[in-house]
Amino acid sequence: MSRKPTRPLAVVILISGSGSNLQAIIDTLHGREIDIKAVISNRPGVLGLERAQKVGIETHVVDHKGFTDRRSFDTALAQVIDRYQPGLVVLAGFMRILTPEFVEHYLGRMLNIHPSLLPNFQGLNTHQRAIDAGMKEHGVSVHFVTPELDGGPVVVRAKVPIHADDSAETLATRVLKEEHRIYPEAIGLFAADRLRLQDNVALLDGHPIAQLAAAE
Ligand code: GRF
Repeated sequence: MSRKPTRPLAVVILISGSGSNLQAIIDTLHGREIDIKAVISNRPGVLGLERAQKVGIETHVVDHKGFTDRRSFDTALAQVIDRYQPGLVVLAGFMRILTPEFVEHYLGRMLNIHPSLLPNFQGLNTHQRAIDAGMKEHGVSVHFVTPELDGGPVVVRAKVPIHADDSAETLATRVLKEEHRIYPEAIGLFAADRLRLQDNVALLDGHPIAQLAAAE
C-alpha cells in the first residue's frame, strides 16, 4: 500500500535528444515528488541538456562514440548514475540498447517510455509501422525495464486514434501529447511508493497491473 514519502525521490534521467518528456517531468514533478539529481545524455549538444541546465539540474554527457563496446559504455554510464544514488532511473527518449548487466543493476527502479501500445511494435519506427499495419489505434506505454528490449511489464498505456490521413509525423505528435501526460503520472506513482516490480510483474498498490488492464 502507499505511504507518504517524507522526502522527494532521487531520480536520474537519461536522454538522447530533444527532451520534451524530460520537460514534462520537470514541470510536473521536480522539486515536489521527485528531485532530479542529474540528466545524462549519450549525445552532446542536445536540447534536453539545455532544458535541464535552465532549471539548475546537473548534466553529463557520456558519449557512446567514445567507447569500443556496449559493456564499457554501460559501465561508464552506471558510474555516473550511481554517484547520485537514485531511487529511480528514468529513460526519456534514451536511444541505446542496454546490456543485461546494466538492466539487472537497476531492476525494479528503471522505467522507459515506448511510443506504441506494447506488446505491439517493439523497436523503432513505431508510428509508420502502426499505419502500415492498418491499425485503427496506436499509443504509448510506460514499462519497467527488464532484459527483454521494450518487453518489460507495462505500468500505464494511453491510446490515440489513427486517422485515415495520418502520416508518421502527425501520429507522433498525437502520441507525444499523451507521453507528456502519462510519464509524469507513472513516475508520480513510483515516487508515492505505489508502484513496484515483483517477479517480473508490475504491481500497483500491491495488485498486478496486467489484471487491471485486462479488466479495462
Ligand atoms: C519519444 O517519442 C519517446 O517515446 C521515444 O523518443 C521520443 C523522445 O522524445 N522513445 P523527447 O526526447 O522526450 O522529446
